[in-house]
Amino acid sequence: MKPLIVKLGGSVITDKRRRFAVKRAVLRRLARELAAAKGPLVLVHGGGSFGHPMASEYKIAEGYKNQRQLMGFSLTHRAMEKLNTHIIDALQEVGVPAMAIPPSACVVVEGGRIKSMELTPVRKLLELGLVPVLYGDVVPDLSKGMSILSGDQLIAHLARELEVSRVILGVDVDGVYTADPKKNRGTKLMRRITLADKAKLVASLGAAGGRDVTGGMANKVRELLALAERGMEAEIVNATKPGTLRRAILGERGLGTRVVAR
Ligand code: IPE
Repeated sequence: MKPLIVKLGGSVITDKRRRFAVKRAVLRRLARELAAAKGPLVLVHGGGSFGHPMASEYKIAEGYKNQRQLMGFSLTHRAMEKLNTHIIDALQEVGVPAMAIPPSACVVVEGGRIKSMELTPVRKLLELGLVPVLYGDVVPDLSKGMSILSGDQLIAHLARELEVSRVILGVDVDGVYTADPKKNRGTKLMRRITLADKAKLVASLGAAGGRDVTGGMANKVRELLALAERGMEAEIVNATKPGTLRRAILGERGLGTRVVAR
């Protein structure tokens, strides 16, 4: 059975306005919804108010420029580990054998894009029946020294390499809108995005609000369209609405925005 990949966006599980603030009740509920998965599952989560403020303070995404950033690199990773601990705890509490895989220990990027990733442990853990949990992280960069690897790039890479059945992105809006719904009125939810929409979409979608160092919704759509090009299907759903993620995991389509080839 092919694995399913689910990403929980940082704004779903953390309060992006307050540093190091986990939405505990939401996380507990989402853990129960994830526990409904019938087959192999890989979970990826974002950084929210743990990873982003720290990464932006130390300008990690700009690459290595000064020694002070080394502490920033270390602190950002630590912040992500702390968030990850909350997620692993929540999953274990509902009986999911979750296992943290820190990307900084198995990924090297070049110019911010994944150059190599050691996936044997992920594959073997999946075969055993464990649930690997990865996250957006700081990573060594062959050209810039250091970079931020977003959870979105990670799911696209994992989806390709592990030949997953489907990708589900849980976010805090109903899907992809024609413009940022938090800033504009009268924007429309797109039920389906296909390769034909690519050029106009990536240009028109803005970055997410707050301190997002990895590119917001436009970046998600870009990564998912690259998967659609390979015939894989993805859906962006609102994980803040109770039950939605569970329904998506159980195979329901059309709950948010589907990103498909045509
Ligand atoms: C960011 O990961 C990780 C760091 C800033 C270290 P993501 O870009 O996937 O996080 P969210 O989902 O936007 O919060």
